[in-house]
Amino acid sequence: MTKQPLQHLAIIMDGNGRWAKQKGLNRTKGHEKGAEVIRDITTYCSTHPTIESVTFYAFSTENWKRPKMEVEFLMRLLDRYLQHELATYQAHDIRFKAIGNIEAFSQKLQDRIQHVEEATKENRSLTQILALNYGGRAEITAAVNQLIAKGKRDITEADISSALQTPYRDVDLLIRTSGEERISNYLLWQISYAEFYFSQTLWPDFTTTELDEILDDFQHRNRRFGGINE
Ligand code: FPP
Repeated sequence: MTKQPLQHLAIIMDGNGRWAKQKGLNRTKGHEKGAEVIRDITTYCSTHPTIESVTFYAFSTENWKRPKMEVEFLMRLLDRYLQHELATYQAHDIRFKAIGNIEAFSQKLQDRIQHVEEATKENRSLTQILALNYGGRAEITAAVNQLIAKGKRDITEADISSALQTPYRDVDLLIRTSGEERISNYLLWQISYAEFYFSQTLWPDFTTTELDEILDDFQHRNRRFGGINE
């Protein structure tokens, strides 16, 4: 059994709405609790010996289809989250990075994102990446267009990898909560050899204890990357 160091963890946080509904609350309460869970999981990852980056799917290119009020709430929540989170990032030596097309956001929110990225760029214990207005196909398409614009010919996989917004590294483990078993246009290029874990837990109920169990499960996976066991 190969012991694989887990360096890049990716998470699809699903189930905020169902969590709120089960409790007779407005969907927005589920998102608020979900944001608190992002904080707990991020600080936990910053103390983990091998995890270098954790990428959360916070807003997809498809999420604009939600009712206007919910979209506006998510934007305000993100702004509040980042404003509040800066102290947490600094206290735990966490670098913050956004991926996705943030130009679609208000200028105020774009400024906030850039400010927090800039303020945390020297931090090293972990990179927390928030995928915001993100779509995997859009990311790959943009990378290819960028290479064409540079006059690149005979484009290789390595060229595309380095032109992506997430050139950090491939995803080792992808977790999706709430029992749904879909990829939803997430990190399509980077998950080629990722291990998947589908949890039944709704995101607002997800804990570091469950993450620990999943990390333990990951250690027992037999990753062959297309090869065979020796
Ligand atoms: C899925 O729940 C969740 C999202 C729309 C993305 C995750 C958003 C958060 C955790 C909230 C805030 C994020 C930040 C960074 C402040 P859902 O609404 O699809 O749940 P449902 O499938 O049960 O309806």
